[in-house]
Amino acid sequence: METIDVILDVDTGIDDAMAVLFAVAREEFNILAVSCVAGNASLERVGRNTREILDLAGARDIPVVLGADRPLAQDAAPAGHVHGLNGVADLELADYGDVGLGEVDPRPCNEMLREVILNNPRPVTIIELAPMTNLAHLFRDYPEVLGNVEKVWVMGGAATVGNATPVAEFNTWHDPEAADICLKAAPSLLYPLEVFYSPRVTDEDIATLRSNSSPLANLAGDLLAGIAKPYEGEPRVTTGAYRSCIGDAGLVCLMVNPELATIRRHPVRVSLHDPLTRGMTVVDQRWVDGLEVQALPMQWTEPIVEVALEIDGDAIVEIFMNTLLR
Ligand code: RIB
Ligand code: CA
Repeated sequence: METIDVILDVDTGIDDAMAVLFAVAREEFNILAVSCVAGNASLERVGRNTREILDLAGARDIPVVLGADRPLAQDAAPAGHVHGLNGVADLELADYGDVGLGEVDPRPCNEMLREVILNNPRPVTIIELAPMTNLAHLFRDYPEVLGNVEKVWVMGGAATVGNATPVAEFNTWHDPEAADICLKAAPSLLYPLEVFYSPRVTDEDIATLRSNSSPLANLAGDLLAGIAKPYEGEPRVTTGAYRSCIGDAGLVCLMVNPELATIRRHPVRVSLHDPLTRGMTVVDQRWVDGLEVQALPMQWTEPIVEVALEIDGDAIVEIFMNTLLR
């Protein structure tokens, strides 16, 4: 895979933190900017966590911008019960190295992203690991940027079972209107819960990270241990010897080796108006790669989205571990 120019949109968050550590460590990614949005934690907390993680990874020069502190049409709903009150398993990131808060880009988020994208000589790939509020503002206010967006790789949605609700995944549930806007606006690849939970680690993997000579590997081990607690009740994670999963980081690992997932093109819609299913991503698997499998009522054909529904989770974890271990 050649080096691609990317923007990460994050709600750092335990697994966003691991995704950022991985992306910074890989030469395949030329990170142009990181934008922060309210999600797992407040915008202020996400901004702090993101800058400290970049600092620890030796990437203080990557521009960081603060975006939306709330969704388009509802209140923010932080997930402290999963990510801890500070958003990173209540770990003290200064324990892993020097963290001096780098400056935040002073421009409004959508103006900064617009300038980064339009001034870039090559198409930009967006890695969306959070509620899509920032991208919705950007695509709605400055649709011209879409001319230089290669694709949006989105951790979001679920084709079957949710996590925030029985049918909705947290990122699309946190801002359904934003997800609807973005999936209709940009070429997208969805990394839903069906694959999100598959790259899992064992207690042995966690111990290997924690005992490694790299402080960043130690941090990843502690982050995985931190999210293992709320995952104890999640059967999609804790089966057999598995104790935790790398979450968002799995999407970035997949970008390095896309052949590790089965990706098909389906119509995808976001439920907006029904309180019972709001935030649900309805993946029409009656259509595969544009081929109508069954003509039934309630037909729609847009937006067509690449959807990863199967993945080699162990191979993804191997990429993650080998990248962070020294
Ligand atoms: O549902 C999982 C997603 O919600 C991940 O991106 C996690 O970081 C949270 O944002
Ligand atoms: Ca996230």
